[in-house]
Amino acid sequence: MIRLGRAPTDRKGFTFDPRGGLVAIDSGGGEAWLRFHPASGWAPADGCDPEVRDLLDLYLPLCGCGPSGVQVVGHLGQSLNGCIATQSGDSCWVTGPENIRHLHRMRALSDAVLVGAETVVRDDPRLTTRLVPGGSPTRVVLDPHRRVRAEHNVCRDGEAPTLVIGTRSRVPPGRLGEAEIAGVPERDGRLDLAAVLGVLRERGLDRVFIEGGGVTVSAFLHAGLLDRLQVTVAPLLIGGGRPGVHLPPAATMGECLRPRCRVFRMGGDLLFDCEPRVPADAAEGEGLSRVI
Ligand SMILES: NC(=O)c1ccc[n+]([C@@H]2O[C@H](COP(=O)([O-])OP(=O)(O)OC[C@H]3O[C@@H](n4cnc5c(N)ncnc54)[C@H](OP(=O)(O)O)[C@@H]3O)[C@@H](O)[C@H]2O)c1
Repeated sequence: MIRLGRAPTDRKGFTFDPRGGLVAIDSGGGEAWLRFHPASGWAPADGCDPEVRDLLDLYLPLCGCGPSGVQVVGHLGQSLNGCIATQSGDSCWVTGPENIRHLHRMRALSDAVLVGAETVVRDDPRLTTRLVPGGSPTRVVLDPHRRVRAEHNVCRDGEAPTLVIGTRSRVPPGRLGEAEIAGVPERDGRLDLAAVLGVLRERGLDRVFIEGGGVTVSAFLHAGLLDRLQVTVAPLLIGGGRPGVHLPPAATMGECLRPRCRVFRMGGDLLFDCEPRVPADAAEGEGLSRVI
C-alpha cells in the first residue's frame, strides 16, 4: 500500500509499480494515475483507470496526515440492526471478504492498530497485514484490568510489536510475553484516551486504526478523538447481539451527530466513511456509491 506523507516538489505525475510502490513519471505523461497539486494535495489523475480511481477515492484521504499530524480512524462491521457480534461474542464473519481485505489495507496504511481487551480475549486476533502488501502496524490493546494473557497471539507471536495499555496507577510498566506494558492516567474512571494517543505519538505512531470492538470505537468517538468513523453494514440480522456504536442518549434528532459521509460498496456490504467532526452538507450530494 502507498503511504503519502511528504509533498513532492519536482514531479507532478505518479503511477504504481507492481508491488504498489509509488513511481514518479515525467510531468505531462498520459499514463499517470495520481497527481500532486500544491494547493489541493493528492488526487487521482484525469485519465486514471476507473477501478484505480475508486480505490484512490477511498484511500487517498487516509494516506496523508491530518492537520494535527495524527489520523485516527475507527471501523466497525455491523449487521443491519447495528450488531457487531452475537451475544456470546461470535463475529466470524459479520462482513464479507472485500471488507476483510479493506481491514488489512487499513492496517498496512496505519502505524498502529488498536483494539479493546474484550476483542483479544474473545477472538485472539493476530492483527497483522496478510491479505495485501505492506507491513504490519504496532498492535495496541486497551486492557485496564490485565485480562490479556502472555498466551494471546499479539503477546506471543512476535510478528509485530505489541503494546498493552493499562491504568498507570494499577499497571506497572513491564512485559507480557513479547508485548510491552505501558500505563496512562485515568479520566472519569476509564483510560484517558487522549493520553493513549499521546503515548502512541511519543513512539512515532501517528496513524491509528481502531479496529474494534464497539465499546472501544464508541469511547474514542464520544471523546471526539476520531478523524474518521468507518461503519460497514452487512445485509444480516443478528438477534440480541453486541452493539456497534453506542453513545449517550439524545433527546431530539437535532442533537444527533449527522456527519459528512461517503458511501462505498464492498461486495455485498456498504461502507460508510464518516468524518464525525464535519457536519453533513446536503448541497454536496452525499450518498455517492462507489464499488470497491
Ligand atoms: N464486527 C466488528 O467490526 C468487530 C470488531 C472487533 C471485535 N468484534 C467483536 O466484538 C466483541 C468485542 O467488542 P466489545 O465492544 O464487547 O469490546 P471491546 O471494545 O473489544 O473491548 C472493550 C474493553 O476494552 C477496554 N477498554 C476500551 N476502552 C476503554 C477505555 N476508554 N478505558 C478503559 N478500558 C477500555 C475495557 O476493558 P475492561 O473490560 O477490562 O475494562 C473494555 O471493556 C467480540 O465479540 C469481538 O468478536 C467485532
